[in-house]
Amino acid sequence: MKILFSTSELAPWVKTGGLGDVAGALPAALRALGHDVRVLVPAYPALLQAFPGAAEIARPHWLGGLLPTPGLREATAPDGTPLLLLDYRPYFDRTGNPYLGPEGRDWLDNHLRFGLLSRVAAWIGSEASTLDWVPDVIHCNDWQSALAPAYLAYGAERPVKSLVTVHNLAFQGIFDHAALFELGLPDAAWSMHGVEYHGYLSFLKAGLQHADAINTVSPGYAREIQTDAEGMGMAGLLRHRAADLSGILNGIDTRDWDPAHDGHLVKRYGSRRLEDKAANKAALQAEMGLDVRADRPLLAVVSRLTEQKGLDLFLEVAARVLDLPAQIAVLGSGAHALEHGWTAFARRHPGRCAVRIGFDEGFAHRIEAGADIFVMPSRFEPCGLNQMYSLRYGTPPVVRATGGLADTVVDATDEKRGNGFVFGPATAAALFAALQRAAVAWRDPTLWRRLQKHGMARDSSWAESAGHYAALYEKIAG
Ligand code: ADP
Ligand code: GLC
Repeated sequence: MKILFSTSELAPWVKTGGLGDVAGALPAALRALGHDVRVLVPAYPALLQAFPGAAEIARPHWLGGLLPTPGLREATAPDGTPLLLLDYRPYFDRTGNPYLGPEGRDWLDNHLRFGLLSRVAAWIGSEASTLDWVPDVIHCNDWQSALAPAYLAYGAERPVKSLVTVHNLAFQGIFDHAALFELGLPDAAWSMHGVEYHGYLSFLKAGLQHADAINTVSPGYAREIQTDAEGMGMAGLLRHRAADLSGILNGIDTRDWDPAHDGHLVKRYGSRRLEDKAANKAALQAEMGLDVRADRPLLAVVSRLTEQKGLDLFLEVAARVLDLPAQIAVLGSGAHALEHGWTAFARRHPGRCAVRIGFDEGFAHRIEAGADIFVMPSRFEPCGLNQMYSLRYGTPPVVRATGGLADTVVDATDEKRGNGFVFGPATAAALFAALQRAAVAWRDPTLWRRLQKHGMARDSSWAESAGHYAALYEKIAG
């Protein structure tokens, strides 16, 4: 199968969250199965720097509306995956986060920036393309490329098939009516059966409406988003498309995230050398300015600090957690209130709680290795990768029973499979009870080793899920 994988993030170069990780690993896993997968991604500064020799292979013209003529450059990722870099400097030559300007607000021209990404994906599948490679399926990811199926529906003479993967239903790419013209979409697209969504234009809705198939990143989330409570306004449409909707659990990059070979760690370890994890804990405590002591559990967070992740609930009970006794380490960035709340809390509890605001890949690895318990009380979680990293690093996670968390973490009460702690209601009280259970279990070495070993033995690689994607592509392409 020939697959065009369209994405707005690509690890290790451009990443704000799990989408970047998925785009950095799934295409290679599909290629290992023999499929011809190429990745279309905006040529952000980090990518142009990484691939200075990327030659221009096409200039898609007359894309419609206000869309400019970009260049397409070709490069090859170190893992062998061919990349198509969408080069239009006025849109993508901007520093920092791919979506936000310096004040932390969305760029005002995001509809054009990601409209161009979507439009060029459709162009690559259309008769107009000057490339000598035609995909069988265009695989769109999240709202930033979800307009491609609409462009295909209203344009291409050679309708190539499309798949939209929902990594997070909370981000829907919603813009004013004027965007319809600017994006070069016909008036006919402005209907509830098209791109219109309650008087606005929604990229994601357009994709969910027009794609040949839809999937999300866990079976649990695929079920949840069809309910009015968790469907974020799209439940009706998703139920309508239930026959074309599935859930495929994310994998992780098992080479990047492997405690036995992780270059970020002071001491590498595996499930048979778990005692070497202790050196990583001591180093992390020292690095973060926590009291260096082995006799209390270190609870950790690596996360975007947003409403989704439930870290306000953790903050609410953080003082009681320290009194268990325990230590807390947080790495994250995002909402000002949460950044401020956690920083202020850490300042009041020196040596016992440490917070670092920022995005730091190496540090995330050292936390996974150095912590005893990973905390992920998400209100919703399409899949979640950090709990899988934690399992692999022998750091049992405490998670809320939602989406992909419920699909990957098994509560300690299950003696045969338990690998973490799962709680139900999104309340501070329920979270605290689970954290307390975890802290008590940590003091029981036999039980703790069992949880760690179950987690480390779990196969979180992409192999199986890549096979599910391949089967889905084949089904779509007929
Ligand atoms: P989401 O995509 O919703 O943010 P995931 O768990 O799927 O959640 O993926 C988050 C990814 O981003 C993980 O690879 C995680 O390690 C990384 N990450 C999040 N915040 C930070 C941070 N502050 N520093 C380094 N990595 C981070
Ligand atoms: C989203 C979700 C997260 C998921 C990631 C990759 O950002 O919030 O749960 O793991 O996408 O699919």
